[in-house]
Amino acid sequence: MSDKHLSDVNTLRERARQHVENGAVTEGYNADREQVLRLLNESLATELVCVLRYKRHYFMANGLKASVAADEFLEHATQEAEHADKLAERIVQLGGEPEFNPDLLSKHSHAQYVAGNTLKEMVYEDLVAERIAIDSYREIIQYIGDKDPTTRRLFEEILAQEEEHADDMADILNDL
Ligand SMILES: [Fe+2]
Ligand SMILES: [Fe+2]
Repeated sequence: MSDKHLSDVNTLRERARQHVENGAVTEGYNADREQVLRLLNESLATELVCVLRYKRHYFMANGLKASVAADEFLEHATQEAEHADKLAERIVQLGGEPEFNPDLLSKHSHAQYVAGNTLKEMVYEDLVAERIAIDSYREIIQYIGDKDPTTRRLFEEILAQEEEHADDMADILNDL
């Protein structure tokens, strides 16, 4: 078995003392940090736009007395907000700044904010947005590869939940 990728303990100890001000970002960080930060911020924008869209759909569906859909919209809004928090936390760990400027959110977001008038339109647009997020997160995971395992794992966890969201919306759409 080759050990050429394993650093000896002295090298590890020496490297850890270099650029201590970079916190969690060590000399062995293999990814393009600027690029990873850009992808994290675009994903943060995507999640925040999804929170807003699901919130609107929750309140509108409540007005339409569509309680099953409303419950799902609210649950999704809460989970998208959790995704946003985790992405923002990772951005800071990597020495970046999470972008929360509302003027920039819809420009950076991959998924769109579509208000939707009828319940069917709302569910349809949510399904489309989830499908955009799924494809975009899958590509990001492939791009990161084994260069930044923590960020990749975060995207894998989020992706799994987006797939559940898409499935939920597809089920509701079928019943409408
Ligand atoms: Fe999400
Ligand atoms: Fe989602």
